[in-house]
Amino acid sequence: MEQEALAGTVIWLTGMPGAGKTTIARAFVARMQTFAIRSTMLDGDALRAGLNADLGFSAEDRMENIRRVAHVAALFGKEGYIAVTATISPHPGHRASARQIIGNESFVEVFVDTPLHVCEMRDPKGLYKRARQGEIEQFTGLDAAYHAPVNPDLTVRTQGVSVDACVQQIIEHLASKGRIESAWRPVQRQLRVPR
Ligand code: ADX
Repeated sequence: MEQEALAGTVIWLTGMPGAGKTTIARAFVARMQTFAIRSTMLDGDALRAGLNADLGFSAEDRMENIRRVAHVAALFGKEGYIAVTATISPHPGHRASARQIIGNESFVEVFVDTPLHVCEMRDPKGLYKRARQGEIEQFTGLDAAYHAPVNPDLTVRTQGVSVDACVQQIIEHLASKGRIESAWRPVQRQLRVPR
């Protein structure tokens, strides 16, 4: 039977390219599916391939990108999904605007905190390398700033930490804030049982 979802919850992951946002979002959604909780991922890269294909990386375009992602996430939230967004959203104004669109009570800002040198070492898409070679301009982390959140709802450090442990931190944060329906709590406890 399908469990009650965290009604109207949007988990807004922010962090540098290569920080692990997409990986964590995907693993979170997979974990929720295991327990029949409706959850979906909204990935910046995937959305930029379609809905946001007209946008680049200027300040204006990034703001518009975030506006659209936030509205889509809000729609999923209203349908009772847990929507996990994975966008760099490098500026505090991006996160504030997303929070405003989604609504403070539904918005959970999670800083995926990975040092630049680790992101650059991971370089999953080879973009740091290309940016260093001058092939990509305004690349976040190099010639465009990433302004880390000063007071996020949760900070998840990924260096030397497993993806599962990062996902677990998010789950525990949601539980501690009472964002989990009571019907879901027994399931949440089950999640902690070692396999
Ligand atoms: S945001 O700044 O508007 O939040 P978003 O998360 O949607 O960015 O997209 C970031 C992705 O676009 C990166 O993961 C990377 O694959 C790609 N990308 C291409 N050019 C850039 C750039 N100049 N800066 C950052 N990311 C870029």
